[in-house]
Amino acid sequence: MQAKVVTVGLGYIGLPTSALIANSGIAVHGVDISQHVVDTINAGKIHIVEPELDQAVAKAVKEGFLQAGTQPIVADTYLIVVPTPFKGDHQPDISYVQSATEGIIPLLKEGDLYIIESTSPVGTTEKMMDLVLSRRPELTGKVYFAYCPERVLPGNVMYELVHNDRVIGGVDEESTQKALTFYGQFVKGELHATNARTAEMCKLTENASRDSQIAFANELSLICDKAGINVWELIRLANKHPRVNILQPGCGVGGHCIAVDPYFLTADFPMESRMIAQARETNNYKSFWCAEKVKNARLEFELKNGRQPAIAIMGLAFKPNIDDLRESPAIHIAERVLQDSGDADMFIVEPNVHEHKVFKLTDYKEAANKADIVVLLVAHNEFKELSYSDHQIVLDFCGVGGAN
Ligand SMILES: NC(=O)c1ccc[n+]([C@@H]2O[C@H](COP(=O)([O-])OP(=O)(O)OC[C@H]3O[C@@H](n4cnc5c(N)ncnc54)[C@H](O)[C@@H]3O)[C@@H](O)[C@H]2O)c1
Repeated sequence: MQAKVVTVGLGYIGLPTSALIANSGIAVHGVDISQHVVDTINAGKIHIVEPELDQAVAKAVKEGFLQAGTQPIVADTYLIVVPTPFKGDHQPDISYVQSATEGIIPLLKEGDLYIIESTSPVGTTEKMMDLVLSRRPELTGKVYFAYCPERVLPGNVMYELVHNDRVIGGVDEESTQKALTFYGQFVKGELHATNARTAEMCKLTENASRDSQIAFANELSLICDKAGINVWELIRLANKHPRVNILQPGCGVGGHCIAVDPYFLTADFPMESRMIAQARETNNYKSFWCAEKVKNARLEFELKNGRQPAIAIMGLAFKPNIDDLRESPAIHIAERVLQDSGDADMFIVEPNVHEHKVFKLTDYKEAANKADIVVLLVAHNEFKELSYSDHQIVLDFCGVGGAN
């Protein structure tokens, strides 16, 4: 196969993207450092859970438009879709992007297009261009560099990859146009042209915006708790204002995007991004606060009843009705409560996960039935049907009980 496109990184974003491009009749060579990932894809199978992805990959591989390998090969367009986590001190780690770029530097030729899709700090595309051109100065002005962030919703990736609008920014006008033409082959959503730095910032802005708005709701929940007001009722009423739209509070903010990406701004612009930094702190504090609330409820119960309560921790995922536990505040709370629980019986519940390597999981009905203190951390649908007896204490941190 003569590959037209090389995608580097075949995870939650890279694999669906590769399959989509391949199924529009463009030969794709996908690269991953994991031999298991490569072998699975070459067998026409998938290693991640995403609806409709299995058929898309099976078709693309069977028809010869998608193949995988551990090394890149010569192509016309290179897409970088590797992880961009942060380091211990909340500094962005772009070493995966750099190593993926280094792998393709020897293969680049005049007229090629290089695109980063990984969520990246502002200036990363220019930095990678400088790296490429420092090693291949003869390509100066002859290779196109662009950035195009991803904003799909896990669970609906195959639809959103095609139909979502995309923001596309090149390091210069020609690069932007080249990248627009590339995405125009398989994206039906509108393509919005800008420059690379704005496109990088756009992705970070989207997630920092969500984080800040959730922080506002979480801050309200702290105030309401002290003031004796039902925060969910309050928000429902405030949102009757035609120009007010407050989000819902919860037990913190988790996941691999909203809880991570704002740090890409605060790390590089610490003086200017104080509200964004405060939002991160507020959301992290909310988890700590929830754990303290459970601890206090446990102590009160013990004083009143002369015995340890049984506690049910309801939900571990980072949002309702999914099995994704990455950066989940509920896990953090469960760990803190467990550390403090002494001899108390603890039931940990996550109906979307069968097994967990740290926690012994209990059926949600059994836990809710046996616990003296029920701690609702994630508003999973299953929890909405539960009812409790009068002597049970219910700490609802995620609004399962709603505004009533
Ligand atoms: N998952 C999402 O919903 C989502 C949404 C928007 C943006 N993003 C961003 O997209 C990027 C990729 O995320 P993901 O969820 O697909 O990650 P992932 O962890 O699912 O997949 C990344 C893949 O890259 C491979 N890899 C790592 N280093 C490599 C290298 N040097 N060469 C080749 N392969 C390498 C890994 O083995 C892995 O299979 C990240 O920057 C992420 O922030 C993700």
